[in-house]
Amino acid sequence: MGTRHVVGRVDEIPPGGSKFVQVGKFGVGVYNVGGEYRAVTNYCPHRGGPLCVGMRYPVIESDEPYQFEVSGSDEILKCPWHGWEFDLRDGISEVGTKRIRTHTVRVEGDLVVLEGV
Ligand code: FES
Repeated sequence: MGTRHVVGRVDEIPPGGSKFVQVGKFGVGVYNVGGEYRAVTNYCPHRGGPLCVGMRYPVIESDEPYQFEVSGSDEILKCPWHGWEFDLRDGISEVGTKRIRTHTVRVEGDLVVLEGV
């Protein structure tokens, strides 16, 4: 069994919310994406930027001009250094094949628990 860190209570990280925890070499951001918890290392695979201080926003999809849909889940995280974007749901870059490091998050009672960092 790996390491285990209590991040906080469930009501501290509502949908759209996040919390940073200083664990591991770079720290980890824990995000509530539409009711699902995701955790990523605070290290951008491009040049090592502090990914977790980047902005979040929803996916915006368009099939034709002037028509678009917004996901409403703030699942995209944008690195503050050069603007690479990553999907918090799978950790994959929107612009290439780079992937951010993700971690397991579990809910135990009313606690959010981070594992394996
Ligand atoms: S270090 Fe993150 S985009 Fe360059």
